[in-house]
Amino acid sequence: MTADAAAASSADASTEGPPAGSVAESVAGSVAGSVAGPPSEAPSLALPFDAEAIEREPIVTERLLIRPLVADDSDDVWEYQRLPEVLRYIPWPERSRDEAHEHTMRRVGSRLLAEDGDNVHVAMVLVGEPSPTGSGRDRVVGDVMVRVASVEHARLELGWVLHPDFQGRGLAAEATAAVLAFAFDTLQAHRVLAELIPANTASARLCLRLGMRHEATFVEEEYDRVAGRWLDMAYYGILRREHTAARLAG
Ligand SMILES: CC(C)(COP(=O)(O)OP(=O)(O)OC[C@H]1O[C@@H](n2cnc3c(N)ncnc32)[C@H](O)[C@@H]1OP(=O)(O)O)[C@@H](O)C(=O)NCCC(=O)NCCS
Repeated sequence: MTADAAAASSADASTEGPPAGSVAESVAGSVAGSVAGPPSEAPSLALPFDAEAIEREPIVTERLLIRPLVADDSDDVWEYQRLPEVLRYIPWPERSRDEAHEHTMRRVGSRLLAEDGDNVHVAMVLVGEPSPTGSGRDRVVGDVMVRVASVEHARLELGWVLHPDFQGRGLAAEATAAVLAFAFDTLQAHRVLAELIPANTASARLCLRLGMRHEATFVEEEYDRVAGRWLDMAYYGILRREHTAARLAG
């Protein structure tokens, strides 16, 4: 995180959405508008989930193939992981190529969703776009994280990154919409959330495009040890019933 980004983050938090502390405004913007939601069955995520299932049957969208990240993707991932404009808003430190490879291998090895904190990473493979490695494979242009935020409350978190050369074409929206549908349909989430720095407007727009609601911005929620600053964090979320309703509405 650069100093600029951190400063912009704090500035944005004061202008975006209801101000921190404005409980009435925050609640008015929420779906239930009351302390308790409507009566419902106890939530239950469809866990354990092994990423092998999406290896066998990848998610196919108009332009992308979405399947678990594998070791051979490491060089494609490096192409975006090394860029300052990508690192600006992701809690990834600057890494050497070897360190980045190790990091990708850790993400590749994380394939089971069973407990809080478990995560899997799926690659956005752009069909027909050759990998710059010359491997003859289609290129991995980004990836999406699915993390178990809470088993008890059937809550999942998504995170995403797309190579800047491929931004502005709706590819992130295409991939994340498919992963969001997977989170609700296959994993049976009750709620899906995304967490971001308020200055990350591209990511905030993506959340809104996915039908998520800006629910809160927590002031000085995280400390960035690299930049030596506190960061505000914005939370976006969507409920299962909202996702279903949006789908029915077309
Ligand atoms: C967040 C991020 C994935 C968004 O990528 P993106 O390319 O802006 O998102 P999309 O793929 O949905 O593209 C949407 C843009 O493409 C445009 N677009 C062009 N063709 C389109 C199409 N066929 N369908 C939809 N949108 C299209 C849209 O108008 C939109 O532009 P706008 O943002 O100016 O309104 C990207 O900025 C990124 O990787 N950032 C760095 C990493 C990061 O911050 N990750 C999140 C940490 S919380």
